[in-house]
Amino acid sequence: MTVRKIIIDTDPGQDDAVAILLALASPEEVEVLGITAVAGNVPLALTERNARIVCELAGRPDIKVFAGCDAPLGRKLVTAEHVHGKTGLDGPQMDDPTMPLQAEHGVDFIINALRTEAPNTVTLCPLGPLTNIATAFQKAPDIIEKVQEIVLMGGAYFEVGNITPAAEFNIFVDPEAAAVVFGCGRPITVMPLDVTHKALTTAPHVQGFRDMGTKVGEMVAAWTDFFERFDKEKYGSAGAPLHDPCVIAYLIRPDLFSGRHINVEIETQSDLTRGMTVADWWRVTKRAPNATFMGDVDADGFFALLTERLARL
Ligand code: RIB
Ligand code: CA
Repeated sequence: MTVRKIIIDTDPGQDDAVAILLALASPEEVEVLGITAVAGNVPLALTERNARIVCELAGRPDIKVFAGCDAPLGRKLVTAEHVHGKTGLDGPQMDDPTMPLQAEHGVDFIINALRTEAPNTVTLCPLGPLTNIATAFQKAPDIIEKVQEIVLMGGAYFEVGNITPAAEFNIFVDPEAAAVVFGCGRPITVMPLDVTHKALTTAPHVQGFRDMGTKVGEMVAAWTDFFERFDKEKYGSAGAPLHDPCVIAYLIRPDLFSGRHINVEIETQSDLTRGMTVADWWRVTKRAPNATFMGDVDADGFFALLTERLARL
């Protein structure tokens, strides 16, 4: 398998943190060119701080972390402290990072990286609202054709919404940005709630993190303990959905996932259904397919991969 060059665009968020750790633990499959923080789960000042904390936890203070956009394209920022806590990484006590934040704006890093790397060799991995990606595409349309693939966590169809009855959080926060990305014409692979709600951190999986006997295992278990309280209470589920690591797991083991190449449009006009991913799963329209929308995951295989890789750190 050739090593994929990736840019992780993220709003840590405990699940984002696990995704970043999984990527940094998998150099045979992915090379992280940089991490761009975006406002989402918590404001930008915290998401960029948290991204640096996670890189240091992975023993990678060399990773370039950039601050991107601090608000959606044209809407007021909606955050999710009710899920992730005030810091965005609530659970264990985390010290402030010491590694530097890059001076370059995250959007400019995305633009420059796509202009510098060979065409069709960089995969964008958005794990939060799509503001940075859409801003980069609008500021530098020439980079769009250079993108190898966009593999993102966001949206929902059968699982419907988690922040409103109709919309998943990442798409809801910046639906206009999502519409730009889903309309860009490049290959898009979507990890919606339909998949991530099958990747639940059940007690045996969390114990598996603890049994690693490492700082990373201890942190991931503590994040999970905090993060899962919200979903277990809301859904009565056996654990929390580990949303964002599904994106990185797909790059490493695509065979763990299955879905359909279908048309996905974004609702931007209605206050009632703002941010809904209108996924034509049953192909009832003549709208051209624009995304591979995942519908299932081998959850045991996913957690086996995650535990094996995180134990390396
Ligand atoms: O709806 C789940 C998504 O919203 C995840 O990416 C989580 O981190 C939050 O950003
Ligand atoms: Ca996220």
